[in-house]
Amino acid sequence: MQRRPRRNRKSEAVRNLVEETQVTVKDLIFPLFLVDGQKKQIEVASMPGIYRFSIDLMLKEIEECLKLGIYSFDVFPAYPESLKNAIATESYNPETFYLRALREIKKNFPEICLMSDVAMDPYSSDGHDGLVKDGKILNDETLQILGRMSLAQADAGVDILGPSDMMDGRVGYIRNLLDDNGFTDTSIMSYTAKYASAFYGPFRDALDSAPKFGDKKTYQMNPANSKEALIEADLDMEEGADFLMVKPALSYLDIIKQLSDNYPLPIAAYNVSGEYSMIKAAAEKGWLDYDRSMNEVLLSIKRAGAKIMLTYFAKDFARKQV
Ligand code: PBG
Repeated sequence: MQRRPRRNRKSEAVRNLVEETQVTVKDLIFPLFLVDGQKKQIEVASMPGIYRFSIDLMLKEIEECLKLGIYSFDVFPAYPESLKNAIATESYNPETFYLRALREIKKNFPEICLMSDVAMDPYSSDGHDGLVKDGKILNDETLQILGRMSLAQADAGVDILGPSDMMDGRVGYIRNLLDDNGFTDTSIMSYTAKYASAFYGPFRDALDSAPKFGDKKTYQMNPANSKEALIEADLDMEEGADFLMVKPALSYLDIIKQLSDNYPLPIAAYNVSGEYSMIKAAAEKGWLDYDRSMNEVLLSIKRAGAKIMLTYFAKDFARKQV
């Protein structure tokens, strides 16, 4: 007898039978960029095919996505410099355009799953995710601002809050505050293992949110480390997270796998801006087949153990399914 693994690849029908992983539109969350104003749709230079929308056009975009079967969205705001300050007060101003847009989206589409970003950087004149004092990023003082932001977003009707800043203790702090204020149904998808990555570059262009000094290495994780991800996951579990997220996705498939093997919570992965842009750019040059590369990327992230993927490919992927 000779082992012949190729027998299980001999026809499409057989290959379909033995196929272990399938990506569906139901696994995807589509990140959307919001700007203030009306009738604005501005392409992000470093992310071809991805736009910053004003709320009126974002509603249209969501309607189009629903027709394609995309039901989950994560909205990120791009704030002008004039509204930023050191303590990110605009983040919890109930009349700020981000919170108004979240309310509007939920009012128009109550059936969708709406996720929001909880971090100071879009509103911070320092461009950091935490309060800055003497060049240092303060942790516990930042939590209070995250708390106010979380309550404001929960009040706007958000389904899932996404604390994305890697401050210690933020998940527990936010969970307690939500519960004490009656928002027991508002979920938390923790950015559990978020690495200090070069692959966020295009996102920071989209939001004009690059740090004004230094880098994010005192709070985001070192790409060299995997054990710390287990510490972070332990804490997020204890603190009451509903989902654990790994970010970026492609260079961190081992981390996704470790969390998925060791934790019973659903694992999400953020297939970040740079991971989208590099495939878009190569495809535009004719160096890669866009659809096949996109499919392979999403498949590999799911195979590694992520049930949920936040991805700028969502719309292109969904278009191919209908
Ligand atoms: C910041 C935040 C970032 C992303 C999501 N939330 C960037 C950063 O940490 O600088 C990156 C997403 C992407 O690159 O697609 N709160």
